[in-house]
Parts: sequence; structure tokens; C-alpha cells
Amino acid sequence: MSRIAYVNGRFVPHRGAAIHIEDRGYQFADGVYEVTAVQGGQLVDEALHLARLDRSLGELRIAAPMSRRALGFVLREVIRRNRVRDGIVYLQATRGVAPRDHPFPANTRTSLVISARRARAANAQALAEGIKVIAIPDIRWARCDIKSIALLPNVLGKQQAREAGAYEAWQVDSAGLVTEGTSTNAWIVTQAGELVTRQASNAILNGCTRLALLDIARHIGLTLVERPFSLSEAKAAREAFLTSTTSLVLPIVRIDDTAIGGGKPGPLGRKLRELYVAHAEGQTAKHAALPEVA
Ligand code: PDD
Repeated sequence: MSRIAYVNGRFVPHRGAAIHIEDRGYQFADGVYEVTAVQGGQLVDEALHLARLDRSLGELRIAAPMSRRALGFVLREVIRRNRVRDGIVYLQATRGVAPRDHPFPANTRTSLVISARRARAANAQALAEGIKVIAIPDIRWARCDIKSIALLPNVLGKQQAREAGAYEAWQVDSAGLVTEGTSTNAWIVTQAGELVTRQASNAILNGCTRLALLDIARHIGLTLVERPFSLSEAKAAREAFLTSTTSLVLPIVRIDDTAIGGGKPGPLGRKLRELYVAHAEGQTAKHAALPEVA
């Protein structure tokens, strides 16, 4: 089956889909993106993702490409045309096409590209055995709360992780505190049983999985603290895990050369993953229960 992408108002074959060479996303990384999971053909946490998109666009003063309602429609249409039941949908919005010049151009129209693909099945081995992360310095800019397409430090960090045989790199700020992974949020369970993740600020991307999991953790009455934690605290933790749209909740059993939780995935991380999966599936069930709108 050939894939279909949405590019500036048109549904086009994915293989030949292209944007202009003077698109500011291409030339300046002047744009933002979202990755949303699709489960059972439905968007997971759509409202959280579209709210974050609006925020990212607003912070960069890029005009919304269309209304939220229209965007929801196009996202669904891309999912439908690609027959994605379980996978992801990718959306990128940039300041548009203009002769190359740093200041904002007058009268450009926001460029919008959307694509969807089926996801590989969850990595059973990573889930059962846990994954390794390495620690690297956080060399990113001071607005990591914006989901900008400028991802070079993240790309370099992820590559460094791969070359070290690790799944992810945890970025550490100049005070020795963990900010987040290169494409995931970072969590620990302390020896006292406290669930800890860094509070939302300019230092991290406020993950939609993070937000949904915080809600779940509060709901089941866990001792939860949103605060920074140091790399050494993480290495001494009882459990560690990461969250993201594509990884969901994934147990970490090694940070650099230090084994976490005796080198085995911990029970709280496992429980939270189960609850998160149920949350995502529950949304699907809720949507599926709605009558079809003609
Ligand atoms: N990454 N931190 C960073 C730097 C991210 O890029 C991401 C998302 C997250 C987790 O956010 P969420 O739970 O909303 O996926 C945290 C996406 C998936 C990506 O880059 O593909």
C-alpha cells in the first residue's frame, strides 16, 4: 500500500512529498512539531498534543495553520488514508516559505506537513529486561519547553547513546541535575519510595505521556514529587524509567555503569506502564463507543 502525506493542503504520495527549498523549517529550523500515538485507529491524548502545539506555535509567534477542529480532521484523514490502526502521526508546522533572511518575513503562510506510519510492535526485550541510558551534558538552548524542530543536540545525544549500546541519553545540566532524555522524560523512584520527575519549566519538554502518567500516579495515590534530581541520586534510585509517545513507559536498569534496582525492571514502573497502556486503550474504547457521525 502506498503511503499518503498531507503537504500544505494536499494529500500526496508520501514517496514524492516535498517542501520548498526556502521553507524556513528547512533553512532555520523555524518551526515546531508533534508526534501523537495512534491506537486502534484513534489518537491518544489528542487534546494534550494539540494544546502543546498551540503553545509551541504561540511562543514562536507562528500563526496556527488552521483551527484545532480542522487540524483534528486532517490528522484523522491522514491516519485513515494510511490505514494506520496502531502507529504514530507526525505533524510539522513552520513559519512558511520566504527568501532567506533571519527576521520574520511578512505575509508568509504557515507550512503544514502531516504523515502517519504504522509502529513496530513494542520492543518486548526492552520491556522485559529494561534498557540502558548514558549521561551526557545538556548542551541545548534555554527554551526546551518549545517542541521545536531544531533537534541537533538531541540527534547527537541519541547517536552517542546508540554508539555506547544504550537506548537513550539522559541530559545533565551544569548543576549536575538530570533534565530529560533526548526524546523522552526522565523518572526515578527513590529508596524512600517517592516517585520523582523534574517539574515542567524551560529546561524540559512537558511530555504528554508525562502529563498523563502524573495524572494516573496522583489518581492511585502515589507519593509524587515534581523536582529535579541529580545524576548521583538517579544512580542510587530504587527504580528508573523513561516516558514518551513512542516508548510509553520503559524501565531503565543501567545508568552508565551503575545497575539500577539490581539490574531488573522495578514493580512501580511496570505498574505505571500497565496503567498507562490501559489509559491509552481506554480512550480508544471511549471513542469506539461513540456513534458514527454521518
Ligand atoms: N519526543 N522530551 C523530549 C526532548 C522529546 O522530544 C519528547 C518527545 C519527550 C516526551 O514527550 P511526549 O510524551 O509528549 O512524547 C520528552 C517525540 C516522541 C519525538 O521526538 O519523536
